[in-house]
Amino acid sequence: MKNTVNIEHFLPDTEATETLGCALAATRPAHAVVHLHGDLGAGKSTLARATLRALGVTGAIRSPTYTLVERYPLADGGEALHLDLYRIADAGELEFLGLDGAEAALWLIEWPERGGAHLPAADLRIALALEGAGRNVELTPFSDVGTHWCKAIVQEWPLARDSCVQSRGR
Ligand SMILES: Nc1ncnc2c1ncn2[C@@H]1O[C@H](COP(=O)(O)OP(=O)(O)OP(=O)(O)O)[C@@H](O)[C@H]1O
Ligand SMILES: [Mg+2]
Repeated sequence: MKNTVNIEHFLPDTEATETLGCALAATRPAHAVVHLHGDLGAGKSTLARATLRALGVTGAIRSPTYTLVERYPLADGGEALHLDLYRIADAGELEFLGLDGAEAALWLIEWPERGGAHLPAADLRIALALEGAGRNVELTPFSDVGTHWCKAIVQEWPLARDSCVQSRGR
């Protein structure tokens, strides 16, 4: 598929990453798979956490570093899955998580390259990279859902800042 809406952006600080999370949440499609790429410390968990918060998750948002997956019910009755596959020994371990055919509304997957063929394909790939004291982010859609999402994100992003920062009480 032709990628017409690649987005590249500089995120100067953690708050900028969180604001992107708000924009992702505000424009979320009904069902979407997000692959989060980037080295250790690139900001993948920061982005996933901010997205989940903005979707209304109020309790603890634990890193799934050891559990591999954390599941969150969403206000509209759907479910979000946050995966971190950094410590997975074998992609086959995913079979034991009971995620086969999971109808999750949203998949946020850190270290997806370690999950191999057992993971659902990405609608949207988000790549984070260290750039000085900040981060560069690149969003690439891999499906029509991802393409529509990126178009919506472009509209929402400048606006997300105020509402998001307010909702966090800053
Ligand atoms: N745009 C940014 N500019 C500067 N620092 C940031 C930015 N976004 C996130 N950070 C900071 O980077 C640090 C690491 O972030 P985080 O834990 O989200 O990385 P990660 O990609 O999930 O790493 P890992 O692969 O180890 O799980 C945190 O202290 C976070 O506040
Ligand atoms: Mg992480």
